[in-house]
Amino acid sequence: MQGKTARYKELMTTSIAQAILQGTHCLRKAGVAEARREAGSLAAHVVGRNRSFIMAHADDSLTAEQLDTLRAFVERRAQGEPLQYLTGHQEFFGLDFEVTRDVLIPRPDTELLVETAVKLLSNSEAASFICDVGTGSGCVAVTLLHELPHARAVASDISPAALVVAKRNAARHSVTDRIDFLLSDCFARLAEHNPSPSPFDIIVSNPPYVAEHEFADLQREVRDFEPRSALVAGDDGLSIIRRLLFDAGSYLKTGGHLLFEIGFQQGERVRQLIEQPVNQRRWKLLDIHKDLQGIPRTVVLQKLA
Ligand SMILES: C[S@@+](CC[C@H](N)C(=O)[O-])C[C@H]1O[C@@H](n2cnc3c(N)ncnc32)[C@H](O)[C@@H]1O
Repeated sequence: MQGKTARYKELMTTSIAQAILQGTHCLRKAGVAEARREAGSLAAHVVGRNRSFIMAHADDSLTAEQLDTLRAFVERRAQGEPLQYLTGHQEFFGLDFEVTRDVLIPRPDTELLVETAVKLLSNSEAASFICDVGTGSGCVAVTLLHELPHARAVASDISPAALVVAKRNAARHSVTDRIDFLLSDCFARLAEHNPSPSPFDIIVSNPPYVAEHEFADLQREVRDFEPRSALVAGDDGLSIIRRLLFDAGSYLKTGGHLLFEIGFQQGERVRQLIEQPVNQRRWKLLDIHKDLQGIPRTVVLQKLA
């Protein structure tokens, strides 16, 4: 009975600030780098308000249910589950995207892919037609349509569960009427979806690019929680990139662009792939843009005649 009373008192008196402090302590012990920020984000999520609100109401008490939920979230985060899967969303290019464990969490590096595509397409007078291969959460295709109000897109993925999330993100950002979703292994079902030859102005992709043997060494947040099929691409991590180089030309207008993201330390090997005679006949390498850390990230190719 005494235990129950103590628990009752604790629940009656735990303020938002105290709960964040406890959460911070637990996450720090588990090795989470930004423990305080993440504990704050989880508290905000549980209260259903933003971080400014909880800072301004730090002395408010949490209900028993909120405290239990917050502790469960902190425990899951301490076990390695990414914050974004707990809160269910991630910001990308200034837009809020729903994420579930069926999709890769959008990364800031991928904003470079979007930025490059927007620059290329903004020069065009006509409405652009975009293809996004491996759309995942839909973050790339949906953001492009949000930035380019006259553009249309086809977004494909091999994962039916990812497409469900991508569709919800398209609706969330009001672009549903300009995007078609396609369950397809790369371009396999594109021809039956749209039989007209060379239709796209641009093909963009953030493909899986981790080599099989690198998978075990990934950060546990990534390895144990994000979809393996969104990460791994064959023995050397380049199997999807090879297919993009081989097939994408058949679906692009002459002079159209193929843009894709590459992994850390893949710049040189991808350059060698592009320099193979079969690819040199198809593509002109315009650039490999570097990310903010100076790592080659976004390959920009133009289709030759
Ligand atoms: C690295 S994730 C990128 C997701 C999203 N575009 C982004 O940038 O956050 C790669 C995506 O490609 C999809 N994928 C993997 N293999 C594929 C294939 N053979 N054909 C089409 N999509 C594939 C995965 O399901 C995953 O959603």
